[in-house]
Amino acid sequence: MQIGVPAETMAGEKRVATVPDVVEKLIKLGFSVAVETGAGDGANFDDQAYRAVGAAIVPTAAALWAQSDIVFKVRPPSPQEVALMREGGTLIGFVWPAQNPELMQQLAAKKATVLAIDALPRTLSRAQKMDALTSQAGVAGYRAVIEAANAFGRFFSGQITAAGKVPPAKVFIAGAGVAGLAAIGTAASLGAIVRANDTRAEVADQVVSLGGEFVKVDYEEEGSGGGGYAKVMSEGFQHAQREMYAKQAREVDIIITTALIPGKPAPRLITAEMVQSMKPGSVIVDMAAEQGGNCELTEPGMAVVKHGVTIVGYTDLVSRLARQSSTLYSSNLFRLSEELCKTKDGVIDVNMDDDAIRGLTVVKAGDITWPAPPIKAAAVPAAKPAAAAPAAKKGHGHGAPSEPMSNNKLAIMFGVAAALFWFVGANAPTAFLGHFTVFVLACFVGYMVVWNVTPALHTPLMSVTNAISSIIAIGALVQIAPPLAGGAAPDQWIRWLAVGGIVLTAVNMFGGFAVTQRMLAMFRK
Ligand code: NAI
Repeated sequence: MQIGVPAETMAGEKRVATVPDVVEKLIKLGFSVAVETGAGDGANFDDQAYRAVGAAIVPTAAALWAQSDIVFKVRPPSPQEVALMREGGTLIGFVWPAQNPELMQQLAAKKATVLAIDALPRTLSRAQKMDALTSQAGVAGYRAVIEAANAFGRFFSGQITAAGKVPPAKVFIAGAGVAGLAAIGTAASLGAIVRANDTRAEVADQVVSLGGEFVKVDYEEEGSGGGGYAKVMSEGFQHAQREMYAKQAREVDIIITTALIPGKPAPRLITAEMVQSMKPGSVIVDMAAEQGGNCELTEPGMAVVKHGVTIVGYTDLVSRLARQSSTLYSSNLFRLSEELCKTKDGVIDVNMDDDAIRGLTVVKAGDITWPAPPIKAAAVPAAKPAAAAPAAKKGHGHGAPSEPMSNNKLAIMFGVAAALFWFVGANAPTAFLGHFTVFVLACFVGYMVVWNVTPALHTPLMSVTNAISSIIAIGALVQIAPPLAGGAAPDQWIRWLAVGGIVLTAVNMFGGFAVTQRMLAMFRK
């Protein structure tokens, strides 16, 4: 089958659906590949680069659509493009079926098969390699920080120079999803002090591990809406969140907003008053500009200055890094092609029994198959019971059934442990009791130590404990040592085994400390 890659027609879109490296791999899967002339120019891939890896260059979009069995695209096709499509052809790319019902009808009328990459079930770990939403949002998060740095009049990292002391920039990230986490990592690596907030409390560890500080809203409410997405929060939560955001706005230099609830307008998090309260020269990058904006004063597609604050509302952040985003996107499409063509003979099989493929397929041979039925329970993490959310809310006395439950469990556990201790104490030999007490205390101290180490430092902690475990070298040393007066000398072979043991534990010991040292150095600024 032939895969066709047309030039993107949307104004300002520089990405291309397939890059030369991936063309080569698609040909190995048995496909032939045709690319419209100039399709890769915006992403710095010229026709020659495609030709060199075996793609045919086609002079017009009409010719390309007419001759291709499968078309790879980035943006949803325009009505003119659908008109060019071959009857019964296959289209793979972003489609956004919920937002584009007319497009869906046009594609169905063409008897097309359409795989919407945006409809991929993201909770399937097997599908991650095809997750273009994630790969593109990661690029956007990175670029948002670069745009902020461009509009900001100072360094990100703090410096002490002969000319004076420069404080580090303070960056606040609203929403720690894919784009938000990429922004946190980028801003932290540039040396800024990074804080972040999200309604889903489970992302706090990820924020910390990327070098940020998670700022909590002083209000207990479960923010997860299932599938890794957020839900609309209660009025009480929103009020508490506004107060926290207002405080952050007064303190920080840069705000990057990425908050999104799928299928809903972007939550309004930054009000005009908050913008006004920011220091002159501050910057806001509103990544949700296309969905109405997280900031009240955002103008989509533009960078404007209001109350002395630059508000960047670009909607083409991914396209501004076209070479990188095209490379990642085409690699997602290649992984999908592998799933569709397991026989490696250049023929695709849209297997509707495969959860990932079923989720993606929004039109099958002219029948609209969107939305896909929910994935069987075993494949996705179980949703939290609905009662858990109101149960945690403050001020709802009736809503706390989970609390006494866990207290009861704790009491039972302590009771069982105490009974066990009594049993061991009453029956075990005295010598055992001493060892046992040391063992229990060691477990307790070890637990308390590990519990208080931030998750980001768990890897160096493991290597240092590994190094410390080399204390077993003492056993070998005892074997080598001359016998105490009256004691029998150990056999030669025991001595040599002990020497071997010392050499090996020395590697563990010195290596462990050296690795820990290097890891800790990575966390030092
Ligand atoms: P995501 O769904 O992975 O992350 C959104 C995060 O916002 C989630 O973690 C969610 O829990 C959080 N959130 C929702 N409501 C919130 C609230 N009220 N307060 C705090 N956090 C809240 O989405 P992703 O992929 O990271 O995209 C983020 C945004 O960036 C979207 O609006 C997306 O359309 C936009 N985007 C913009 C681009 C551009 O060029 N401007 C390019 C790519 C993405």
